[in-house]
Amino acid sequence: MSVSIEDLRQRARRRLPRTVFDYVEGASDDGFTADANRRSFERYLFRARSLVDVSVIDHSVTLLGERLATPIILGPTGLAGLLAPRGEELAAKAAASRGAVFTLSTMSIGTIEEVAAASSAPLWFQLYVWKDRSVTQSLVERAKAAGYRALCLTVDVPVMGNREQDRRNGFTVPPRLHFSNVMDVLRHLGWVLRMTSSPRATFGNFVDHPALTQANAVGVARFTNSQFDPAVTWKDVEWLRSIWPGPLVLKGISCAEDARKAVSLGVEALVVSNHGGRQLDFLPAAIDVLPEVVDAVEGRSEVILDGGIRRGSDIVKAIALGARACMVGRPFLYGLAANGQAGVEQALDLLTAEVDRTLALLGRPRLSELDRSALRLDAPASL
Ligand code: FNR
Repeated sequence: MSVSIEDLRQRARRRLPRTVFDYVEGASDDGFTADANRRSFERYLFRARSLVDVSVIDHSVTLLGERLATPIILGPTGLAGLLAPRGEELAAKAAASRGAVFTLSTMSIGTIEEVAAASSAPLWFQLYVWKDRSVTQSLVERAKAAGYRALCLTVDVPVMGNREQDRRNGFTVPPRLHFSNVMDVLRHLGWVLRMTSSPRATFGNFVDHPALTQANAVGVARFTNSQFDPAVTWKDVEWLRSIWPGPLVLKGISCAEDARKAVSLGVEALVVSNHGGRQLDFLPAAIDVLPEVVDAVEGRSEVILDGGIRRGSDIVKAIALGARACMVGRPFLYGLAANGQAGVEQALDLLTAEVDRTLALLGRPRLSELDRSALRLDAPASL
């Protein structure tokens, strides 16, 4: 039985070949930032009020002008379709069933069109800027045609972070059997059998790309470093603004200067994120950067917190510090690997129940009315 995200993580670990589980867990270099994302939540303690009527709890939020049933956004995660056949479609269906936003990664296995056809969730499309701007433009046009509501540009991958475990494992797309992982794959025949019903095991949006069709398998870092443009700048944000009619979201903001610059270009929402500790190591925890960004934007743009959320109380803390909503990556991937669509729904339900219980015990029944007075910022826990 899974009663926490950690329980789902353990189930995912048992069900996936180690190379695939390691890809999900992966952090860059020493993993300092990935650890800090988790640990830093422990420094924010609550200030609870008592004798408040908490018989009705409201955890809905307003984001980009839309009222959402939940503050939880399923963040963009490349290759989610390796965890379960049609994994992105299943996660997007789970999002629809709980009224959550689903963000499709550029680097997903399911295509822009397949996921849009499968789910009625509010969909966002996450973009990486390719050296070949016609590829970038075509992704944007496909997302527009398929009805995605927001474009989420990830800004913290000018080059790929150093994921040493993936390098040791020889992790490729499609995953390949080699001497060192034969036993591991054999121990997970259930996964192998399930994946035989998968339409593909490569980046669905680029099935005809010569770099993919000419090789048996490609290393993720090698492929992305050869295709993503390290020369992306704010000029590209202006260009995207001109070709994308809907709301623009920048994901990977980690300081006040960039937040102000984004606001000056009319960016509707910022995601304070360090990519789950998978990019620049020794960035501070996302939750520690959040107040700086919230203060810099002064309400002119909406702020979303992403990184390290494993408990509903983490979400409550982020919203008390000024976030509108929170993105999760690994928590829903654990659910997907553990039990497909139902597993993602369970991850959402567990976090939501924890949000509700935390709000009740805090004496603050409305999530959207939280402010910093719900936290003991004057006396942070000394750890
Ligand atoms: C990611 N993330 C990510 N982000 C992005 O903008 N585009 C992408 O393609 C991916 N791919 C990806 C794959 C996997 C396996 C993981 C775990 C993460 C980062 C993701 O959107 C998010 O920032 C982090 O996952 C947040 O941290 P937590 O919730 O995993 O702690």
